[in-house]
Amino acid sequence: MKFKKNKEVKTIFNKISYKYDFLNTLLSFGLHKLWKKKLVYLLNPKDGEVWADLCCGTGDLTFLICKQVYPNGSIIGIDSANEILNIAKKKSELTKNKFIKWESKDVLEINESSKLFDGICMSYGLRNLNSVEEGLTKVFNLLSVKGRAGFLDFHHSCRNSLPEIFQRLYLRLMVVPISRIFHLSQEYEYIEESIRNFPNRDELIKIALKVGFREIEYRTIFFDQMGIFILVK
Ligand SMILES: C[S@@+](CC[C@H](N)C(=O)[O-])C[C@H]1O[C@@H](n2cnc3c(N)ncnc32)[C@H](O)[C@@H]1O
Repeated sequence: MKFKKNKEVKTIFNKISYKYDFLNTLLSFGLHKLWKKKLVYLLNPKDGEVWADLCCGTGDLTFLICKQVYPNGSIIGIDSANEILNIAKKKSELTKNKFIKWESKDVLEINESSKLFDGICMSYGLRNLNSVEEGLTKVFNLLSVKGRAGFLDFHHSCRNSLPEIFQRLYLRLMVVPISRIFHLSQEYEYIEESIRNFPNRDELIKIALKVGFREIEYRTIFFDQMGIFILVK
């Protein structure tokens, strides 16, 4: 399944929303929480800063950043799929968290004359956008001077390298069969192709330079399975 239109992405994430957190934790053995914490640690949001979590999904990163910018800063979680965003909102209600703002919006359509952010983060979102370059340009334009951004996603390794073979087998032999139990295999089958269509480390760096970022760092974690991309404007 190839995502060509935002509408398709929205449909997929609305459909899997009710099992999203459960499957994320099951399929990563809970490790996605550690990887997200690592991203937040590297970004180091501070009390008083203004942050946005783009493609926030059910809000894992949004809640982590909230703890760091509270009480003088602000954090907004933005996602285009209403069903998944509703889960984030429900989590806020359950924990009586009135600090986080949630907004249903396509990130590529965020108004750039709205307020600028000290920091922007995105986990497993950049790969799903129609255009990575457009996404990074949007992030650049939404950041204040010296603002920083961090992205966590699957790492696109060289074809037939050990990490790539492991990733392919993991997706084909574990992710797709387990999601099939929940009648969601079609929705999870797209991941392998989306990684192949996602720029690799060198290509991401090239795009970030073209967009205008001054400081760029890309590192892999968990045996080259995931990539963390940190950018400073
Ligand atoms: C794989 S999920 C990641 C969710 C969350 N960040 C996490 O790490 O658990 C990707 C999310 O990106 C959202 N998304 C994809 N394209 C988007 C777009 N153009 N604008 C806003 N949200 C988008 C989807 O609705 C989905 O919630």
